[in-house]
Amino acid sequence: MQSTAMSQTPRKILVTSALPYANGPIHIGHLVEYIQTDIWVRFQKMRGHQCIYVCADDAHGTPIMLRARQEGIESEALIARVAEEHKADFAQFNVDFDNYHSTHSEENRICANRIYERNRDKGHISRRTITQAYDPVENMFLPDRFIKGECPKCGAQDQYGDNCEVCGASYSPSELKNPVSAVSGATPVDKESEHYFFRLGDFEEMLKQWTRGGHLQKEVSNKLDEWFNAGLQEWDISRDAPYFGFEIPDHPGKYFYVWLDAPIGYQASFQNLCDRSEGLNFDEFWGKDSDAELYHFIGKDIIYFHALFWPAMLHGADFRTPTAVFSHGFLTVDGQNMSKSRGTFIKARTYLDHLNPEYLRYYFAGKLGSGVEDIYLNLEDFTARINADLVGKVVNIASRCAGFISKRFDGMLSEQIAEPALLQAFIDAGETIAEHYEKREFSRAVREIMALADRANQYIDEKKPWVIAKEEGKDQELQDTCSMGLNLFRLLIGYLRPILPATAEKSEAFLQIDALSWAALKQPLTGHQIAKFEPLMTRIDPKQVEAMTEDSKQDLTKTATAEAKPSGPLADHPIAASIDYDDFAKVDLRVVRIAKAAHVEGADKLLQLTLDLGGETRNVFAGIKSAYAPEDLEGKLTVMVANLAPRKMRFGLSEGMVLAAGPGGKDLFILNPDSGAEPGMKVK
Ligand code: 2FM
Ligand code: ZN
Repeated sequence: MQSTAMSQTPRKILVTSALPYANGPIHIGHLVEYIQTDIWVRFQKMRGHQCIYVCADDAHGTPIMLRARQEGIESEALIARVAEEHKADFAQFNVDFDNYHSTHSEENRICANRIYERNRDKGHISRRTITQAYDPVENMFLPDRFIKGECPKCGAQDQYGDNCEVCGASYSPSELKNPVSAVSGATPVDKESEHYFFRLGDFEEMLKQWTRGGHLQKEVSNKLDEWFNAGLQEWDISRDAPYFGFEIPDHPGKYFYVWLDAPIGYQASFQNLCDRSEGLNFDEFWGKDSDAELYHFIGKDIIYFHALFWPAMLHGADFRTPTAVFSHGFLTVDGQNMSKSRGTFIKARTYLDHLNPEYLRYYFAGKLGSGVEDIYLNLEDFTARINADLVGKVVNIASRCAGFISKRFDGMLSEQIAEPALLQAFIDAGETIAEHYEKREFSRAVREIMALADRANQYIDEKKPWVIAKEEGKDQELQDTCSMGLNLFRLLIGYLRPILPATAEKSEAFLQIDALSWAALKQPLTGHQIAKFEPLMTRIDPKQVEAMTEDSKQDLTKTATAEAKPSGPLADHPIAASIDYDDFAKVDLRVVRIAKAAHVEGADKLLQLTLDLGGETRNVFAGIKSAYAPEDLEGKLTVMVANLAPRKMRFGLSEGMVLAAGPGGKDLFILNPDSGAEPGMKVK
């Protein structure tokens, strides 16, 4: 990996983040990676290096094709709409790509064909006939995740095609009992077809060297050893029509599997940028003898693709391999995986409706290290941290000093530095902070910067400019003290610039200086006029966070309504017409105990139920009064939809729904026979 020492010659660096799928919105889980990458790229630029950051939408594959069909639009229309949404979200989070392209582009077709053909010509592609599940209604082969059935080991219902969520068994889709297609509901049949395979095993020696050659984090290399021990399998890179992707050049009717052309999208996006930029040359960055650095930031779930297939494909096609692949962990919100019912599945857009993106950038930076550990976002801690650190410490320094400089000295800073040793200590800290950034140890950089902020505040507390300001004949001291404070502020905001680009820009406007670089920070600001101070950042009111979580719950309701509308070719089918499998999988069915049941005053049909989910309780209004008296229900078990967004009803908030079956009236059955099920258990 790149040495951390600052080299004198500017480095040539190409950086990518994983390409988001073009069938869904960006959420804060995605943003961990884009913010991490963006901070690193901005840091490299501030160090004076040529650092180019490219990304694209990952636009191919069955889920995107089906999603478009479900919406009754062409795949191209879906990916065009989503691309606009993604770009707008990234721009507002100040994720500053040098180029954002699409894998469904001419550049990517050319790049994918080239990589395929070069590997094929060297004998790294094989073909053979395989048997796969086929949906006879939709006339399509079914990816594993579109087949459901009973687990062959434990018999659990509705399990995915490759592993059981109940007993953890792994199996092949053909082993599932009573399988059904999640697309049409039909029973899949076996069908043969010829497939193309990338012979990963041909690259075993090269990959063993590469994966141990300092291009990966240690824990990732160790994981790869396990995969080597398990043996490198040939990789199926083709799919049959109908498929939204690129046709394989010499095999009409066969398409590249989405994961073949996804990483090639990194090349395509860069090619697209080269075509539009003077002096940027594709081969200088991707050629075998390139002296540029190439880094991929990814989530730990896609290591296999980036640390095995991708370097092998590149090597086989005579391209350079990545300098490093940097993996990160997943985001957990308030101690759990992001949950729609709790309102912690927060879309980028919903966040932006309520909060300043710089807050999240700072919070993530404060949590990010160079490893693959998960990142924990605790919303209370988030509020406290931003208010204490950014508003209370950093921005506060400027507001404590700027007023005096404006009012008493016409915005002019002193000609001299009052405390040269203190200023030097701040300047010297820049190298340690830079090392932390370089190694992606952002949390350490943040800690270091906040320690400096404490010192700066301590300096102002000791000097008490508000006291000096009232004393006769102390103008010079006042100007010197406030100028010193503002110089310390300038260094702090400079060090935070990769994390807080918008606040840094506002600060630069206030200080009337050019965009700060690491080198510029070494020179103090003296005898210089600054502008009037405008507040740089406001405190978070916990109500804003609450409103965001509330809206996130409502997002779910909106999505559910929008998605339930049947449209498109699949709408004709009785099952596919309403929701697709992905939607079904979102429904969280739980066994609950009816802790309390009561009549609702003024309601003819409703009973008010207090449901115990095994620790958590929910209030639900259920239209089952015609079938049950409250006393029949208490203590019994039933099944509820636990992740339905709460609904305001005339009688109060209903936090879910219980499932009932039957023709209605007296014949409405909600109770699960007492079968040893426990409240809180997921219903499969
Ligand atoms: O896992 C994902 O979300 C993929 N769309 C990432 C692709 S990264 C690269 F290979 F394109
Ligand atoms: Zn099982």
